[in-house]
Amino acid sequence: MKDDRGHWGSKIGFILAASGSAIGLGNIWRFPYITGENGGAAFVIVYLIFVLLLGLPYMLAEFSLGRAFQLNTVGSIDKITNKSAWRYVGILGIITSIGILSFYGVISGWTLAYVFKTLFTEGQVLINDFSNFVNNPYYEILLYAIFLIFTALIVYKGVEAGIEKWCKILMPILMVLLIALIIYANLLPNSELGLKFYLMPDFGKINFKTIVAALGQAFFSLSLGIGLMVTFGSYLPKSTNMFSSAIYIVFFDALIALLAGFIIFPALFSMGENPASGPSLVFIIFPKLFAQMPFGNIVGAFFFVLLSIAALTSTVSLLEVPVSYFVDEKKISRKKIVWIMTIVVFVIGLPSALSQGTIDFFTNFGFIPESLTSQDFLSQISFIFGDLLLTIGALFLSIFIGWIWGAQKAAEEIKISGGKFYKFEKIWIFLIKYIIPIIVVLILISIFKVTGIT
Ligand code: PHE
Repeated sequence: MKDDRGHWGSKIGFILAASGSAIGLGNIWRFPYITGENGGAAFVIVYLIFVLLLGLPYMLAEFSLGRAFQLNTVGSIDKITNKSAWRYVGILGIITSIGILSFYGVISGWTLAYVFKTLFTEGQVLINDFSNFVNNPYYEILLYAIFLIFTALIVYKGVEAGIEKWCKILMPILMVLLIALIIYANLLPNSELGLKFYLMPDFGKINFKTIVAALGQAFFSLSLGIGLMVTFGSYLPKSTNMFSSAIYIVFFDALIALLAGFIIFPALFSMGENPASGPSLVFIIFPKLFAQMPFGNIVGAFFFVLLSIAALTSTVSLLEVPVSYFVDEKKISRKKIVWIMTIVVFVIGLPSALSQGTIDFFTNFGFIPESLTSQDFLSQISFIFGDLLLTIGALFLSIFIGWIWGAQKAAEEIKISGGKFYKFEKIWIFLIKYIIPIIVVLILISIFKVTGIT
C-alpha cells in the first residue's frame, strides 16, 4: 500500500512541495488586500502572532497524523476511531477544498490573463482595464477553465514529481523578482507613507474583524485546516524531521507574504490609491507599477507567469485533497475522479467569476454581513470556505489530534526524527490541547454572534 502511494523524493523536495502549496495567491493577492482592508501594520502583527502561536504547531499536528498512518485524513481518522462521526471532519476538509478551489481558480484565471495583458497592452490602457476585463465574462471564464484544466492535467499525472520539480525552480526566482520590485517600489516618491501604513501599528485599529481576518489568513495561507498537510505528511518517510520542515515552510510562507506587502503598500501610497480596494487590489497596483517601469511589459509578464505558477502549485494541492480521498477510500480511478472534480469545481466557481460587476445578483450577494467581508459572491465564498470552514476544520482536527488520538502519541510520532522538538514538546502539547482550540472557539463564537447564525 505504502509504496503504491509514493513518497517525496527528498526532504527538500517535500519542503518545497508543501511550501508550493502554502505559497500562492494567498500571499501575493490575498495578504495585501486583507491587510489593506484591515488597516495595515496592526493587522500584520496579529497575523504573525497567529502564524507562530497557532499555525506552526497546528501544521506539525497535521503532519504527524498523516505520517503515523500513511493515509489521507479520513483514512487516518478511521484508523483511530473506527468509522465514527470524526471522519466527517475529514469530509469537511474535502468539501472546503472544493469550495476554495472554486474561487481560487477564478483569481488564477485573472493572473493568467494578466500575463498576456501586461505583455501586449500598452501600460496606460492596462491601468484602467481591470473592470472591463472582469465584465467580459467569456474571456474571464475561458481563462478560469484553462487554469483548471492545467491543474487537472498535473494531478492526473500524480502530484509528487509535478510539484517537486516546479517548486524547486520557481521559489528562488520568485523571491529574487520580489526583492527587485521592492527596491523599485521603495524608490518612488511618497513611498515612505506606504511603509508607515505597513510597519507602524496603530493598535486602535484592531477590532473583531481584524482578528477574524488574521486568523483566517494565517490558516489559509499555510494551507491548513482541510487535512491537506495530513495527506502531504502521509507521503513522508519516518526519517524526515517534520519539526524543522514545518519551521522552514512557515518561514518561507510568511516571508513571501511580507515581501509582497513591501511592494504593494509603498507603490500604492505613491500612486495615491486606496489600500482598501478589495480583491482587485493587486490587479490594479501591479500593472500601474509596471506601466511606469522601464521594460515594464516584460517584467510584468514575467511576474504574472511566476504568480500563475505559484497559484498552480496551490490549486494542484487543493484538487489532490478530494482526489486522494476518492482514490484511497472509494477506489475510483484517479483519471475519472480528476475530471469529475474539475467539472464540479468549475460549475461552483461560475458565480464567483460573474460577481465582479457582471451580474448584479452575484455582485451584491450579501449573505455574510459587510462587517465581516465584502458583499460580492467571490468575497463571500472566500470568507465561508477560506476563513470560516477552514478554521472550523482546524478546530476539530486539533481536538481530534490533541484529545482523541492523543497529543502525546502525536508528539511521539514527531520525535521519531524530531531534532530539537523534544525541547518544545511540553509547550507543543499545551498549544494543541488547549490554546489552539480555545482561541479558535472564542473567535468562532463571536463570528456566529455577529452573523446571527446562532
Ligand atoms: N495556501 C494557499 C495560498 O496561500 C491557498 C490554499 C489554501 C491552498 C488551502 C491549499 C489549501 O495561496
